[in-house]
Amino acid sequence: MFSASTYQGRRSRLASDLGNGLILISGNIDAAMNYRGNPYHFRQDSSFLYFSGLDNPGLALTIDSGTGRSILYGDDLTIEDIVWVGSQPTLAEQAKQAGLDEVRPMDRLSADVQAAGDKLHFLPPYRGETILRLATWTGRSVEAIQAGFSEGLIHAVVAQRSLKSQEEIDEMTWAVDLSGRMHVSVMREAEEGLHESDLASLVTGMCEAEEVVPAYGIILSKDGQTLHNHYHGNTLESGQLVLGDFGAESRMHYAGDITRTFPVDRHFTNKQREVYEVVLDAEILAIEACKPGVAYKDVHLHAARIIANGLKDIGLMKGDCHEAVAAGAHALFFPHGLGHMIGLDVHDMEDLGENHVGYSKDVQRSDQFGLAYLRLARKLQPGFVLTVEPGIYFIPELIDQWRADKKHTDFINYSALEKYRNFGGIRIEDNVLITEKGYQILGDPIPKTVAEIEALRYIV
Ligand code: GLY
Ligand code: MN
Repeated sequence: MFSASTYQGRRSRLASDLGNGLILISGNIDAAMNYRGNPYHFRQDSSFLYFSGLDNPGLALTIDSGTGRSILYGDDLTIEDIVWVGSQPTLAEQAKQAGLDEVRPMDRLSADVQAAGDKLHFLPPYRGETILRLATWTGRSVEAIQAGFSEGLIHAVVAQRSLKSQEEIDEMTWAVDLSGRMHVSVMREAEEGLHESDLASLVTGMCEAEEVVPAYGIILSKDGQTLHNHYHGNTLESGQLVLGDFGAESRMHYAGDITRTFPVDRHFTNKQREVYEVVLDAEILAIEACKPGVAYKDVHLHAARIIANGLKDIGLMKGDCHEAVAAGAHALFFPHGLGHMIGLDVHDMEDLGENHVGYSKDVQRSDQFGLAYLRLARKLQPGFVLTVEPGIYFIPELIDQWRADKKHTDFINYSALEKYRNFGGIRIEDNVLITEKGYQILGDPIPKTVAEIEALRYIV
C-alpha cells in the first residue's frame, strides 16, 4: 500500500470537502459462491481501498468530517481463524499502516453510526451483503439504505478519485505494461486450431505468475461483434479475426484495460485491413484530440465521424459524415461509447453512478442509440486517466433489424453489407492520461499497426 500520509491526506480532504457529518465507508466481506465456506475471489471495495489501503475482508471505516478523526472497525482473528487461514497483521498494525486514529471492535459500529442520526453519509451499496450490513448498523430498512446514500459524499469521492496522483499513475502503468505483455503473448501464440480458451488461460496464467488477477472478465473471441462476450469455447479458424479485450489489476488493484484485434492467419486479408485501418485512425486521432478543456463527448463524436468517413470510403456508408453521425447512423457499426475513466475500477467509480462520474451540468447524457452508452462525456482535466476504444462491428441481428425498419437508408448501404455479415468486430483500446498540455498513453507501446501485429504472428 501507499504510505500512511497518502491515506491521511485523502481522508482529511474528504472530511473538509464534505464539511459536516459522519462518513461511513464499508469494506467488502467474503461473498459466498455456492456456500459460505467457498467464497468468490475476494475483492475489496475500491473507495475503501482508496481511503484506507486495507485489503482484508470485514472492515469498515468512519471519518468525522468535523474533526477529521478516522476510526477502523473490525475484529482481530481468533485462534481458530488463524488455524484455518493463517495469521494476519493485527487491526492495530493495519490502522497504523493506514494512519488511522483508532481501532474499535465491529460491535461498536452500530451505536457510533446511530449516534450520527441523519448526519450519516454513506456511498450507494452495490452488493446485497453491504446493503444488509448497512441496514443492521443503522437500524434502517433495506429500502431506506438503497435510497439513502449521500450525493454530497459521492461528489466529494468522485472529485478526488478522478484525479490520479503520480503514485497511482505508476501503479496503472505497471498494470498496463503487464496487460500489454499479455496481449503480445496472445498475438504470438494464436493459431488456427487452437481454442479461444487456450489463449484465455495464457492470460490468466500470466496474471497468476505476477500474483494478480484480471481486472474484469476476459473478452477473447472470434465473435468480436458481441461487445461483452465472455465465451471462450470456439476453435480458431483461418480467415477469422480475434478480438482480445483484457487487462490485469496491479497488486494494489489499479486496472489496465487494453484491446487488440488480429487475424488468425499470419496476415490480415485486404477486407480486414481496410476496416482495421479505419478503427486505427479513429483511435490514434481520438487520442490526439484529448487535452484539458475538451469534452470527451466531442472526442467520441470526432471518432464517430472518422469511422463514418472510413466506412463511406469502403462503400458501407454514404452521404455527409457529419449528418450521418448527428443522426446516429454510424451506431450500426459503432454502438458503444469511446471510453470511460479507469483507476481502481476498470469502469472507474461506476458504483457511484455513471452520470456523477462522466457527466456534468453542461454535458448531459444523450438518449440516442450508441451515444447513450457513452460513460465519460464531460470536459477532460489533467490527471484524468481514461480509455480510448473505438470499434467497428458487424452485428447480423442489428443489421437485419435496421434494414427491416429502413433505418438511416440515406447513410447506410445495406446491399454492400451482405458480404460483411460474418466479419466479426474490431476494437483497439489504450489507456490515456490527460496531462497539462495534452495526453500520454500509459505504458510501453503495445503493437497496434497492421505491420506491428503481422510481425508478431507465427510463421508457417
Ligand atoms: N473492457 C470492457 C469495457 O470497457 O467495457
Ligand atoms: Mn474499456
